[in-house]
Amino acid sequence: MLKLVVLISGSGSNLRALLEATSDESFPAQIVAVGADNEASGLAHAREFGVPTFVVSPADYANRVSWGEALIAEVSSYAPDLVVCAGFMRILPANVVGAFSPNLINMHPALLPLYPGAHAVRDALADGATVTGATVHIVDEGVDTGPVIEQLEVAINADDTEETLHERIKIVERELIVHTVRNIAHAHVNLQELARS
Ligand code: GAR
Repeated sequence: MLKLVVLISGSGSNLRALLEATSDESFPAQIVAVGADNEASGLAHAREFGVPTFVVSPADYANRVSWGEALIAEVSSYAPDLVVCAGFMRILPANVVGAFSPNLINMHPALLPLYPGAHAVRDALADGATVTGATVHIVDEGVDTGPVIEQLEVAINADDTEETLHERIKIVERELIVHTVRNIAHAHVNLQELARS
């Protein structure tokens, strides 16, 4: 059974998809804790499922390194096999990446390497793209640059706004994150090998 710590910053719809999937006993992973960088509304999903939560806010630390150390200590206390950033909107400091990668994955609302960063949906629309999507990748020290694990496409409609497009991407993301975690748990995806390639 793969043990997951999930990190979020916002509403946690991807977290909820993982909570629902992992509450099925036949699913090969379980969420042992959910962490956030603020009092995120999505933490309520974890509480509803009886999963422990923690908040490690950068505002409480002198610099990124000490925030990272606190985050490493909190995450490590749950001894996870995999850390999943599901809408975690902070760039992780190098000490955190060093502590957990390649067993550290991130969900991103675009077909990386296209549209990295915090405004991927807006950037795809501004670019006039007709297709975007969702990516799960290994976190490395860059911004959304680590090896891609899985991707799914989403068509962009002529009348899409950032909100309508992001909602459709999130529907695909929920499927993708559950599918990817299952594949990692079943060793159909080997993160160590992928990180070396
Ligand atoms: C998701 O679309 C995720 O891909 C995105 O934040 C959203 C969180 O939604 N992450 C990023 O943009 C990271 N750069 P959720 O809180 O409803 O799961």
